[in-house]
Amino acid sequence: MLSITSCISSLPYTSKAPGSLGEVLACDVDILATSSYFNPVMASLVQGGSISPSAHANATENVQQTVTGQLGGFMSSYFAELGFWKIAVTILLALVAYDQCSYIIQKGSIAGPAFKVPFFGPFIQAIHPKWEGYMQQWASGPLSCVSIFHKFVVLASDRDLAHRIFKSPGYLKPCIVPIAEEIMSPKAWVFKQGREHVEYRKGLSGLFTNKAIATYLPVQESIYDQFFSQFVADSEANDGKPTSFMVRFREINCALSLRTFFGSYISQDAVQRIANDFYLVTAALELVNIPLSMYIPGTKPWRGKRVADACQVDFARCAAACKEKMARPGAEPTCVVDQWVLHMLACERYRERIAAGETGVEKPQNLIPVFSDEEIGRTLFTFLFASQDASSSATTWLFQVLAQRPEVVARIRAENLAARGGDRRRPFDLDMYPELLYTRAVVKELLRYRPPVIFVPYVATKTFPITPDYTAGKGAMVIPSCYPALHDPEVYADPGTFDPERWISGDAESKTKNWLVFGAGPHDCLARSYVPLQMAHMIGKAAMDIDFVHHPTPRSEEIRVFATLFPMDGCQLVFTKRV
Ligand code: HEM
Repeated sequence: MLSITSCISSLPYTSKAPGSLGEVLACDVDILATSSYFNPVMASLVQGGSISPSAHANATENVQQTVTGQLGGFMSSYFAELGFWKIAVTILLALVAYDQCSYIIQKGSIAGPAFKVPFFGPFIQAIHPKWEGYMQQWASGPLSCVSIFHKFVVLASDRDLAHRIFKSPGYLKPCIVPIAEEIMSPKAWVFKQGREHVEYRKGLSGLFTNKAIATYLPVQESIYDQFFSQFVADSEANDGKPTSFMVRFREINCALSLRTFFGSYISQDAVQRIANDFYLVTAALELVNIPLSMYIPGTKPWRGKRVADACQVDFARCAAACKEKMARPGAEPTCVVDQWVLHMLACERYRERIAAGETGVEKPQNLIPVFSDEEIGRTLFTFLFASQDASSSATTWLFQVLAQRPEVVARIRAENLAARGGDRRRPFDLDMYPELLYTRAVVKELLRYRPPVIFVPYVATKTFPITPDYTAGKGAMVIPSCYPALHDPEVYADPGTFDPERWISGDAESKTKNWLVFGAGPHDCLARSYVPLQMAHMIGKAAMDIDFVHHPTPRSEEIRVFATLFPMDGCQLVFTKRV
């Protein structure tokens, strides 16, 4: 009798067969069919004896009855002879074998453990991800895999494969982690596909143009004033001794995002509450969650979902207030939601005038509907979701890496002072940005050196041929990596060294294919040009107003993975006010 292992070895070794239960069962049926051990009639049928259609039908019926009868009899006498434990053990072994086969079939020719820890896979490592684990995984091959519970995960470390994955929306959709869709809402625009996604995204493109960004700068300037004073006060309250600033950096980014998105529509209480609670959303985003845990009070997914829902209620309220204000004649936009609602109102006016029969009316770019308050809230929640962890990580490394390099800060300071015409109190404006050559290089190098997003999980919506030799099955997670391309020694010499000069006198700027900090393809970061500008504003302003010193610990350069990357010791700094 054929064993399960021989069944696997008879299948193509690439994962063309995704190893679904259906396929493994189909494989078992083949064994039954080709084995005369079970029934000689069946064997003759499948071996292609020449018979008429009616004989075929009768024979099939006979076969079914015979097989069912024989099998039924065989099974019942077999199970009758066995006790409960023997049955339980048999079922367990069958499940282990199925799980193992499914893994081996899906793994095919790519790198990965030869066998899987039964059912769980590297579950514990997934809950407590270690930086070294990712490095080893990337080093293991251009494509590698792991399987955790029923989830099969393919990681691409190779730059070109990463591009192929990022740019295959016909086969893949973003999933972040499987639970993200439920936390954000399955209706969130980022989960739309194809044309629908492209059209929706076009309607958002006006929110991060230079013209729009200029209207966000004053509120951002005031957030920096408020938080930099707070940083100094924190250090004073700690007697000038170093303390972890990672949490403060999460807070400043949350406040920055919320005020940039909603200006004064959002209350200070809500900003504070969201800044305190948002980490619960991040904490819920584990690669694998216990099924239905989102409905079990007290679990991480349950807490994350509650925070997400509460945020969206707050955001919908802000949208309603914004609509009311922007409908007033002469209303000036000062935040993202203002810009978006003004665009909606302009589109509505255009439609009304056309409907009234007017001709020669100027058509707004990208016609969009007037979205409901809930839809606006949902979409701006996706912005917060996309920005909070990545921006907090970038800010943390920005301050740590620069505090360790006073000579870099001195150059940023001199450049920013010159751009402000010698007046360090002058607020940042967009005209200064092109002049900040060195500051921009520092920001780019920081994002390369410590990219906040190391990879972007997608899920295959159908079988996806990643290479001519390897096809990922439907439902597999397929993860293009950003980090290896940004640390490729053949592209960025000495990639582990922080060297802003490579963006000025070197050729780093021309290596666009390796610049995967913001992903690539139809889902690439909506804020890819806004983020460097915002970081340049932040560090330029900090250089004008405050001094900051890093106090290294043995764990400062160790990397902690909490959705994005952070220094393991939480970034030990002391801030003082510049006189
Ligand atoms: C350091 C900061 C940031 C980094 C490193 C970053 C990086 C990324 C990456 C890698 C992706 C996935 C790209 C892909 O799948 O190809 C992404 C998507 C996205 N990001 Fe960012 N991001 C940052 C900040 C922001 C901010 C501040 C916003 C909004 C204000 C934002 C909005 C988005 C949105 C909406 C998407 C999804 C776009 C889509 O699905 O079409 N990001 N970001």
